[in-house]
Amino acid sequence: MSLAEYRVLITGAGGQLGRALQLTAPPEWEVLACGSAELDVTDADAVRRIVRLRRPSLVMHAAAYTSVDAAESHAELAEAVNAGGTRHVAEAAAAVGARLIHVSTDYVFDGAQGHPYAPGDGPNPLGVYGRTKLLAEQAVAGLLGTRGLTVRTAWLYSAQGRNFARSMLRLMRERDEVGVVADRVGTPTWAQSLAEALWSAAARADLHGILHWTDAGLGSWYDFAVAIQEEGLAAGLLTRDVPVRPLASSDYRTPARRPSYSVLDTRTSRSALGLQPPHWRVNLRRMLQGVGHA
Ligand SMILES: NC(=O)c1ccc[n+]([C@@H]2O[C@H](COP(=O)([O-])OP(=O)(O)OC[C@H]3O[C@@H](n4cnc5c(N)ncnc54)[C@H](OP(=O)(O)O)[C@@H]3O)[C@@H](O)[C@H]2O)c1
Repeated sequence: MSLAEYRVLITGAGGQLGRALQLTAPPEWEVLACGSAELDVTDADAVRRIVRLRRPSLVMHAAAYTSVDAAESHAELAEAVNAGGTRHVAEAAAAVGARLIHVSTDYVFDGAQGHPYAPGDGPNPLGVYGRTKLLAEQAVAGLLGTRGLTVRTAWLYSAQGRNFARSMLRLMRERDEVGVVADRVGTPTWAQSLAEALWSAAARADLHGILHWTDAGLGSWYDFAVAIQEEGLAAGLLTRDVPVRPLASSDYRTPARRPSYSVLDTRTSRSALGLQPPHWRVNLRRMLQGVGHA
């Protein structure tokens, strides 16, 4: 059986990105959406079986262990899912001649550079999550060569799932004040906008290696929280204004170390894909106002 030209298998289909990919899929693509219950990527046989059976021309690999802090105490599991799982998916894709688009993270960088990271800049992850995602990137490059593309993104949020925007809205309803780290800088990115960029990349079989994609602009977690409050009030999702207090990361200890500056330079992908992402705040507004569902 040959590969169907426009058949894509999505792993991690129940996650933020997995759902956004399904919602934004162009009509020419036949989508096989596999959540963690249908396909556990740590099970090499299961991955091989489903890819051999369904013969996609493309695998969009959105499954990952994404709890950055929990990964520090569950390193084996994080490595099994992120590094091992990606290796299984890459091997299975290679075996049938499919392309693979894999999603990685700004947390492969240590943040010391102080200006936006280009795809070729040297990674140096500070924690288990970033380290296991870097291993995944290496597996994709090593096993798939020109049929493998890793797209690094950052600070993903969507209308569903576990993310900073939803946590902030909840805390702002429950508490009389919220404190948020103000000395870590990155780029909030709407899962739907990443998904649209990935579908553009899907149409470009010549793209391989590593690309960076986020919404435009940058800000601290504190800036993001202030914007969530302002846009949440404007969208009627919040009814009162609570003080948002800037914190130093030294006053807000977490199990995982995180880069203080992890803005990604997206120039290469913007030019390759012919897309200009909106400023992150514009997409935050669109998400909170319910434009799109992801
Ligand atoms: N979230 C961010 O801020 C962020 C930032 C940069 C890059 N990324 C990357 O972007 C991609 C998508 O992230 P996301 O935000 O959509 O994450 P997410 O919402 O946590 O979704 C990840 C999905 O992977 C699934 N999964 C976990 N273990 C699995 C396994 N063994 N087999 C199959 N599926 C498994 C999860 O299923 P269960 O829920 O059932 O466990 C979940 O549905 C990931 O590669 C992530 O590393 C995310």
